[in-house]
Amino acid sequence: MELLKTERLKKYFGEVHAVDNVSLEIGQSEFISIVGPNGSGKTTLVNLISGALMPDTGVIYFEGKDITKLPAHKRVKLGIGRSFQIPMVYEFLSSLDNVLVSILSRDGYSSVFYRTVDRLGEARKEAFELLERFSIPLRLVAELPHGHRKLLDVAMALALQPKLVLLDEPTSGISLEERDQVMGTIADVLKEKKVAAVIVEHDMDIVAEYSDRILVMHEGKILKEGGKEILEDEEVRKVLIGE
Ligand SMILES: Nc1ncnc2c1ncn2[C@@H]1O[C@H](COP(=O)(O)OP(=O)(O)O)[C@@H](O)[C@H]1O
Ligand SMILES: [Mg+2]
Repeated sequence: MELLKTERLKKYFGEVHAVDNVSLEIGQSEFISIVGPNGSGKTTLVNLISGALMPDTGVIYFEGKDITKLPAHKRVKLGIGRSFQIPMVYEFLSSLDNVLVSILSRDGYSSVFYRTVDRLGEARKEAFELLERFSIPLRLVAELPHGHRKLLDVAMALALQPKLVLLDEPTSGISLEERDQVMGTIADVLKEKKVAAVIVEHDMDIVAEYSDRILVMHEGKILKEGGKEILEDEEVRKVLIGE
């Protein structure tokens, strides 16, 4: 069975057909990239899958279960994690504490439980390991450069131990030289942890290198889907270059 499936998902903002009849399937551990020009509906689609937005019509299944009406926090519990185009990190906590917040949120919101020293120690160890894996320094987030914040946001999404992670432009604002290394690390961790991913990405070299499958969006619809060869498709090139 596929991990996630959408059927004719639709989200209009007035006249704007942000997501228009999108049906897609994502398999276990699959790495899917969504590409497309600005305004083609990539972020809206991610928001519909995460539960940040509700669709006008259409259905979303996760592991065969209809989750269309579930709020975002309940989808997180089922195993759908996400990061944001603009990192949603806590400025005045350390990088470690940020990851710790994600890890402890898995336990539920019982603050009494958090104070259990054993659990805290165990969670801190796990947080340390994730920081190390992503080479994120232990520092106040307010003092971290943009690239590290982006990675921290990804680490926080993975700390939730999702089965599917939605990453909206994880390499945006990261220098060309660092981008490949950053995505390489993300891809390695996803493989290790057997996490499926839907990644919105603008860098076509990165998309070609890491994706199992690529979805090209245009005006709210999936224009093409397939392997990296579709990036050479004439219609796809026209849409992407028109950006
Ligand atoms: N909250 C909103 N209200 C009105 N229009 C929106 C909203 N969010 C997105 N849109 C519009 O929907 C379209 C798709 O946007 P978006 O999903 O952000 O595209 P992308 O991520 O591909 O750049 C755009 O035309 C955008 O202006
Ligand atoms: Mg976007």
